Amino acid sequence: MAQNSGAHMSKIIITGASSGIGKALALHLAQSGHHVIAVGRNKAALDELSSSDSNRITTVIADITKSEDRLKIKEALPSDARGVYLVHSAGIAVPALLANMTEEEWDQHFSVNIKAPVFLTNLLLPH
Ligand SMILES: NC(=O)c1ccc[n+]([C@@H]2O[C@H](COP(=O)([O-])OP(=O)(O)OC[C@H]3O[C@@H](n4cnc5c(N)ncnc54)[C@H](OP(=O)(O)O)[C@@H]3O)[C@@H](O)[C@H]2O)c1
Repeated sequence: MAQNSGAHMSKIIITGASSGIGKALALHLAQSGHHVIAVGRNKAALDELSSSDSNRITTVIADITKSEDRLKIKEALPSDARGVYLVHSAGIAVPALLANMTEEEWDQHFSVNIKAPVFLTNLLLPH
């Protein structure tokens, strides 16, 4: 994994970096000299992102709703890494009328948008 080139440059983990806001932020921060760890499930999209700046963008293929995948994100950091930033940009918002919503849909939204960010933050607190 690429290391920071200067003390003022940060390591920044961005979930949801395979598209949308997370991808745009990853590109912007890498262009500003920071080391970005880009997280998502879509390997092809993340490979394309890292190929745009392989010195500053590394990737972790992970489903943030799975505890074993969250561990992979932590393991992308050196154990002594400190001052690491974490951006939660992964999320889903599937529109549905309350009348049509299923418990499974509700659980999936809660799992991605609420539970995963809380427990990923918890896991990375030492950093
Ligand atoms: N764009 C807007 O106007 C807007 C407005 C309000 C709020 N938001 C919220 O802001 C966030 C980003 O929006 P966006 O427009 O950039 O959305 P987007 O383009 O749909 O990107 C969502 C990202 O979340 C990732 N993701 C979803 N489920 C995941 C999972 N289980 N594990 C890991 N990654 C997962 C996707 O990556 P993979 O598919 O690779 O896993 C993707 O990179 C979302 O939470 C969205 O609801 C957006």
